[in-house]
Amino acid sequence: MKKKIVSVILAATMVAGMVAGCGSSNSSAPAAAPEPAAETKEEAAPAAEETADAAETAQAAADATTGDLSTKKVGVCIYQFSDNFMTLFRGELENYLVSQGFSKENITIVDGANDQATQTGQIDNFIAAGVDVLIINPVNSSSAETITDKVVAANIPLVYINREPDATEEQRWQDNGWNVTYVGCDARQSGTMQGEMIVDLGEAADLNGDGKIQYVMVEGDPENVDAQYRTEFSIKALTDAGIEVECLTDQVGNWQQDQAQQIVANALGQYGEKIEVVFCNNDAMALGALQAIESACRVVGEDIYLVGVDALSEALEDVIAGTMTGTVFNDHFSQSHSAADAAINFVNGETNDYYIGCDYVKVTSDNAQEILDMVK
Ligand code: GAL
Repeated sequence: MKKKIVSVILAATMVAGMVAGCGSSNSSAPAAAPEPAAETKEEAAPAAEETADAAETAQAAADATTGDLSTKKVGVCIYQFSDNFMTLFRGELENYLVSQGFSKENITIVDGANDQATQTGQIDNFIAAGVDVLIINPVNSSSAETITDKVVAANIPLVYINREPDATEEQRWQDNGWNVTYVGCDARQSGTMQGEMIVDLGEAADLNGDGKIQYVMVEGDPENVDAQYRTEFSIKALTDAGIEVECLTDQVGNWQQDQAQQIVANALGQYGEKIEVVFCNNDAMALGALQAIESACRVVGEDIYLVGVDALSEALEDVIAGTMTGTVFNDHFSQSHSAADAAINFVNGETNDYYIGCDYVKVTSDNAQEILDMVK
């Protein structure tokens, strides 16, 4: 199911073709294209300019073949800087791009402030600035078609991250042979792992012994497939294991700690001891849920269970301390590195698969310290 980046080494003719396609339109054709006479005559450009153009073209050809990235410009759009997980992601992305040869000053990372209009404006600016590649974490996955169209029209390769466009949109990239890809994990896997952690508790999960699991679900942004799949597949893991479930309330916390704290505080007020499990689509919300749980004098692992996703350091410390039942490592290292590698392939004139996946890792008290040592 998971695919890996397939690097395609360009033949010399393809390199020449790419340079011609991306270079300035009035430049002399590179050596591989032998008949520039008419165009050159029409332009009647001064000799010095032609020489400069030729030098520029030769440099571009050299960069393409040698993979010199230090002069290449990368535009990165993040849906919202205040998102904890995307903060880890963008930090690692920038470090890795620099480690691969990009200059820090040529990497521009902007905050979409959770507003698609703002982000669309930022994309327009990147296009106008002529970046060599774009890495986009869309505010709304449903805007991907519009975004793709304008970026492809500008002849800029595009790597989507974290918020997966739908299957129809991904198919379009493939059908048109566009330099567009998506890098991310399959959220169904993280949801399933959350559910399995509760299944693995066995009978202990049914704290009130009524033969079913009463739960509260706190969802991320419902437009986002990560939220949809984690909500669905966490519960599916329980029902697949033959466990009866009862949803007490299912509410949207938009990936935010404060919103989740409020939701869980209200749920605890309304349902009290009936609540056996709190499922949160991410750790930020699980940390908010934990604040509410502790304020209500409930004790995770004793009279309630709590699971999240991401493996934020704070959540891992809670798993180690027993104040969270478990989380799922959302590997920002692997995702940001794969995204950067895909961008590098594009910049070097190579292609990528249209979907580049990665695996989640289930985290319980057994391996939380190990994961913490890795992420710190
Ligand atoms: C998820 C992550 C959330 C949030 C979301 C943003 O993968 O688990 O914490 O960052 O992406 O789209």
